[in-house]
Amino acid sequence: MSESAFTPRVFSGIQPTGNLHLGNYLGAMKRFVDMQGQDFETIYCMVDLHAVTVWQDPKDLMKSTRELCAGFIAAGIDPEQSILINQSQVPEHAQLAWIFNCVARMGWMQRMTQWKDKAGKNQQNASLGLFAYPALMAADILVYHATHVPVGEDQKQHLELTRDIAIKFNHDYGVDFFPETEPVIEGAATRVMSLRDGSKKMSKSDVSDASRINLTDDADAIAKKIRKAKTDPEALPSEAKGLEERPEARNLVNIYAALNEQSVDQVLADVGGKQFSEFKPMLADLAVSKLAPISTEMARLMDNQDEIDKILARGSQRAREITAPILRKTYDIVGMVPPVSL
Ligand code: TYM
Repeated sequence: MSESAFTPRVFSGIQPTGNLHLGNYLGAMKRFVDMQGQDFETIYCMVDLHAVTVWQDPKDLMKSTRELCAGFIAAGIDPEQSILINQSQVPEHAQLAWIFNCVARMGWMQRMTQWKDKAGKNQQNASLGLFAYPALMAADILVYHATHVPVGEDQKQHLELTRDIAIKFNHDYGVDFFPETEPVIEGAATRVMSLRDGSKKMSKSDVSDASRINLTDDADAIAKKIRKAKTDPEALPSEAKGLEERPEARNLVNIYAALNEQSVDQVLADVGGKQFSEFKPMLADLAVSKLAPISTEMARLMDNQDEIDKILARGSQRAREITAPILRKTYDIVGMVPPVSL
């Protein structure tokens, strides 16, 4: 089925596992805000069911889910214009995931690099949910017939699997029901790296807090982390190809470009020839000016938990107007007897 047959609809999600960082902001949230203003329906999700595929303290999970909702709003998501939900309040995600568990193949799941990374050496001891994680992710997207999914580069393989699941479902049942979703992996910061090691992704789970800028960091912490970020002794080049063998330098330039909404070439045209002693304070000022208002607004919203809970309840109501009919149609295709009125 051609894409044009589907309503242009954006879906994306973030795990409410705490430590929201600059990578999540530039690779995902900021992109979500950009897409909100375009010709799409936009649905953004706190994926609490995904979070529990590894152990979460229940109190922390609740707090992190509300904090993530505050983060979305503080970053510029308007809960009227977009639908904001936590996954567990929209049961059709998990219901469609079961069907997809029966469509996806074990071999497909075994090839997922995030499964291999997260399960580590002791796969036998990983949860079944962690193995099935990508089928739930496919359900998140396809239960809305979403056409576009903005994500960072690390999610690319999961989105390819989402397409494979849609294609196999359509083929097995002889229908043109699920769309082949487009990943949207764009901009200068699709893979923000650790500030301590340019070969590692910036991540929530890195033991070193200095490796990442958290959205809850204050201005001093942001400036200190940038000052201490690993670099090399060379001056900055004037063209992007001069960054090829310099992962730490490239990372800081990418971050600058994404925060300032410029291309890497534009940034280097301005800062080429400067030493890091000069560039780092520029980057710190820019980061503080963009991120400090977000953390202040997040803290303000977190003081009003009832408001956050109402936004999520309203979001799930709106979401279910889309998901319930798509799940029912899926069940019809699969051959599940529908409930009749009594
Ligand atoms: P999660 O919670 O790990 O990350 C949320 C988003 O942030 C992006 N991201 C990064 N981007 C650039 N640089 C980084 N260092 C960096 N670290 C994280 C991720 O690519 C992601 O876009 N499986 C997903 C959540 C999910 C989802 C979905 C996403 C569940 N269902 C449906 C899209 C559609 C995840 O774990 O994201």
